[in-house]
Amino acid sequence: MMIRQSPLFLGLIQTSLSKVSARCLTAEAAYALREDEAMPRHEEYANIDWNNLGFSPRRTDYMYKSTCASNNTFDQGQLIDYGNVELSPAAGVLNYGQGLFEGTKAVRGEDGRILLFRPDQNAIRMQIGAERMCMQSPSVKQFVDAVKQTAIANKRWIPPPGKGSLYIRPLLIGTGPILGLSPAHEYTFLVYASPVGNYFKEGTASLNLYVNNDFHRTTRGGAGGVKSITNYAPVLKPLLRAKEQGFSDVVFLDSVHKKYIEEVSSCNIFLVKGDVISTPSTVGTILEGITRKSIIDIAHDLGYKVEERLVTVDELMEADEVFTTGTAVTVANVGSITYNGQRVEYKTSDCGLVSQKLFKRLVGIQSGKIEDKYNWVVAIH
Ligand code: COI
Repeated sequence: MMIRQSPLFLGLIQTSLSKVSARCLTAEAAYALREDEAMPRHEEYANIDWNNLGFSPRRTDYMYKSTCASNNTFDQGQLIDYGNVELSPAAGVLNYGQGLFEGTKAVRGEDGRILLFRPDQNAIRMQIGAERMCMQSPSVKQFVDAVKQTAIANKRWIPPPGKGSLYIRPLLIGTGPILGLSPAHEYTFLVYASPVGNYFKEGTASLNLYVNNDFHRTTRGGAGGVKSITNYAPVLKPLLRAKEQGFSDVVFLDSVHKKYIEEVSSCNIFLVKGDVISTPSTVGTILEGITRKSIIDIAHDLGYKVEERLVTVDELMEADEVFTTGTAVTVANVGSITYNGQRVEYKTSDCGLVSQKLFKRLVGIQSGKIEDKYNWVVAIH
């Protein structure tokens, strides 16, 4: 009698033979894994409320890990149990901030397919960031494969259609020990994932933003244009202050003239005046958002004029409509902006909102409901 083992079982055996102490899953086994085969190893899955996901980390099943030692190439990488990572106290990321992150999402289409959105663009952005931060980076192919494997291995955590997404967080960190200031000699590429709903606690309600005049996110010649972890801790202070006063997020101004808008701590910003959509140009101080550039393409195709240029805070205050874009945020309408004690309110409930049209088109493409003429969507299952 021949006994057929499930691919999951074979995947586990294969990796345990290779003497890896944590439970590992081969890519083949991950792709063959049925949702009912994934083991409910913690209560969180049983208690998940798909209608109220919010945006906080949940311990999913697997994460991907690959390491690049002194030979400058990343090893093949593998899926391992989601869990803590061990680091040298002298790791480059801990001591000198050599770290980059990305964010991308997997959604479940109504036809059951699992869809990713432009993961190659995240891979390219990580490579550009790695070059700026003197780090080794994985190839575009390895990055995209790792994102696919992580999504598939955690597919039971992908919310039902329309309820949210599996937010996938690739990380590149200097794990080699160093003491003098220099690039680390070892890098680790990790990809973990968590199911998420709305980024802001406001849900889909309009945001109230605060323009900060005292703190700046970055400056010309800095690293504000790359997704370095070092760009995010410095915004926490102004962000928390704004939240204490009831605002949703902070708009940062340029650090030289203190009059041009740059970005919001968690997303890019756009304004609408008449039929023209404007957004700050990316000149090294603003993150080159993947949602930002997708929205610019969609807006052009919907017939809007889009200007990427210096945008003053005064123009922002006089706009008809304001919205923000980002992977986590998607497209969020702004209801008010407060600057120098003055609060202005924008159109929010009008059904002709430009941001609503852009949001619907983007989400329609991402979820497979609207034809993807751009070839942005990658179906993985
Ligand atoms: C994203 O939108 O994916 C980001 O990385 C922003 C982060 C502050 C959540």
